[in-house]
Amino acid sequence: MADRLRTRGSVRTAVVWRGVRSILAELASETGREQLDVLDAGGGTGGFSVPLAELGHRVTVVDASPDSLAALERRAADAGVTERVRSVQGDAASLLDVVTGSSFDLVLLHSVLEVVDDPAAALAGVSATLRPRGAVSVVAANRLAAVLHRAASGRFDEALHALRDPHGRYSPTDPAPRRFVLSELEALLAAADLATVTAHGSRVFADLVPGGSLDADPSAVEALVALEIEASEVPAFRDVATQLHVIARRR
Ligand SMILES: C[S@@+](CC[C@H](N)C(=O)[O-])C[C@H]1O[C@@H](n2cnc3c(N)ncnc32)[C@H](O)[C@@H]1O
Repeated sequence: MADRLRTRGSVRTAVVWRGVRSILAELASETGREQLDVLDAGGGTGGFSVPLAELGHRVTVVDASPDSLAALERRAADAGVTERVRSVQGDAASLLDVVTGSSFDLVLLHSVLEVVDDPAAALAGVSATLRPRGAVSVVAANRLAAVLHRAASGRFDEALHALRDPHGRYSPTDPAPRRFVLSELEALLAAADLATVTAHGSRVFADLVPGGSLDADPSAVEALVALEIEASEVPAFRDVATQLHVIARRR
């Protein structure tokens, strides 16, 4: 973890990792199992799944992109955890086509709800893959941050479009079909029988810090991580963070 804390990338994922580590500890304590079964839906190249396998968990990554899965397999091999990482090409919106229902302790759904055709159907599928009292970690783009960041970079038309658009798109051709506010995410989760346990803001400040300022002062990274973690729990900061991170449990 010390190495991870030295890079800008680590600042961007610090809040999410903290939440994921916390729910893993909770699940391990409740189940009495140190090795948990994790599904990373839309897991891409393994930024989360490979470190989780390094911690000893069994991870299944479902992703639509064969290129991403190939990169994941290389990353898992480099880390020496191939036997704990299973890669499956499939659609996060129809997980039960490719994995067994009620078989995972934790499902990660990070930066995927924005792009699936039907977020409610995708979350219903996620819920069905969880063991009773299993947990889901959802990271999704925050609509209010999109408005703020566009305005701060002088793209006022796009900021206004994102503010007015029910899905928070910058324009009708925005490649991200939707962004969320927290109440929408929680309602979607509840409809899939998933009760919110924690809701944090990820990247409250990380994307506002000028490039280079962190490289010049390594101790600044740790200070920024500490600031991000504390601010992530303050509702006013959470509500303008770049991403929302919600952990929910299957009822
Ligand atoms: C922004 S990346 C996020 C990757 C990873 N979850 C993370 O947080 O680092 C989105 C990933 O979702 C995958 N993806 C997009 N639509 C998908 C779908 N319908 N089913 C499965 N994977 C999908 C993409 O191939 C890509 O790897």
